[in-house]
Amino acid sequence: MNPRTFNLCFLGFGNVNRTLVELLRLKEGELRERYGIAWRVTGVASRRIGWLANSEGFDPNVLCGADTPVLDMFAGPQVLGDIDAWLQAAQANVLFEATSLNVENGQPAIDHIRAALDHGAHAITANKGPIVHAYEELRDLAARQGKKFFFESTVMDGVPIFSLFRDTLPAINVKGFKGILNSTTNVILTGMEQGLSFEDSLRKAQELGVAETDASYDVEGWDAAVKVAALVNVVMGVHLRPQQVVRKGIRKLTGEAVRAARIAGLPYKLICRAERTKSGVSASVGPKQVPLTDPMALVSGTSSIIQFETDIFPSLTITEENPGLYATAYGMLADFIRAAGS
Ligand SMILES: NC(=O)c1ccc[n+]([C@@H]2O[C@H](COP(=O)([O-])OP(=O)(O)OC[C@H]3O[C@@H](n4cnc5c(N)ncnc54)[C@H](OP(=O)(O)O)[C@@H]3O)[C@@H](O)[C@H]2O)c1
Repeated sequence: MNPRTFNLCFLGFGNVNRTLVELLRLKEGELRERYGIAWRVTGVASRRIGWLANSEGFDPNVLCGADTPVLDMFAGPQVLGDIDAWLQAAQANVLFEATSLNVENGQPAIDHIRAALDHGAHAITANKGPIVHAYEELRDLAARQGKKFFFESTVMDGVPIFSLFRDTLPAINVKGFKGILNSTTNVILTGMEQGLSFEDSLRKAQELGVAETDASYDVEGWDAAVKVAALVNVVMGVHLRPQQVVRKGIRKLTGEAVRAARIAGLPYKLICRAERTKSGVSASVGPKQVPLTDPMALVSGTSSIIQFETDIFPSLTITEENPGLYATAYGMLADFIRAAGS
């Protein structure tokens, strides 16, 4: 089959988008042969990098150089002044948006995605902010433009949650869910159970690349609350802002309390919950002690779990064990393949 070539633009070039370039390279042959997809990277941008475009395509070997300082990667590209000029110069077909989370209002990622869709590109994001603050607007804009707005990597990395409900579970009613959705706090709690200090456990999560740019978002439960709100907005179809999720972080838990709870067979987990009520949805995030008979108790480190209660399946559980950054990058890759095939 004659492959169709897509111009890819990466906005934010940290852990997620750099890993995505690596994964695209690893899967290059498979994309070409099985899906008729070829690609080149024509745009890379971040605050420090600026708006760089090269319509011929950057050298992916250089982009993947893990040890190359990011600013040394780009020899002689066009440097543009704003996102519209950048998308234009890069002749973007797909935007991969992976900038840092802004809990308060989802910006500037919402503007980035709006600009990409207006330009006529598919928009794929790992950033939860736009989902909780502008899901309906961006979904409708994408539909008007005949493009895709996909965000599988925003919750549980690349595990199919949004595409599961969108593509394979039509006409199902989600009554609620319960889960462990924040890797950083789970890595911290697991580390504290093993005798590490809070700070050393947090450093471990940061070394694994799973912590938010500002790790207090994880520790104070914001990341989890945003994920709950994203699921409620998309899968339950109810408007809910992260600020409406009753939220408590893990900062106040001491190492002694965490170890004693584990020894007593009731380990602490940061539990996310949402349930439909007569007036909408009630949702919460907070540390809870879980009995060892509950599958949640077995979820440690970067692993996560979600249990959906639906009108058809009383309990539908998805567990993800020890994902790395490839799992997040995979969600974006899978979104790309779905968008390219549409
Ligand atoms: N890491 C994970 O495991 C994971 C999993 C699922 C989802 N996510 C989400 O994916 C996104 C990226 O995560 P990450 O781990 O790659 O973060 P990261 O390593 O901190 O990288 C963030 C990137 O975004 C850029 N950036 C931040 N604010 C920007 C702005 N206003 N305009 C332009 N660029 C901006 C940063 O570069 P400059 O500082 O140069 O601007 C950097 O290149 C986040 O929204 C996160 O919640 C991450």
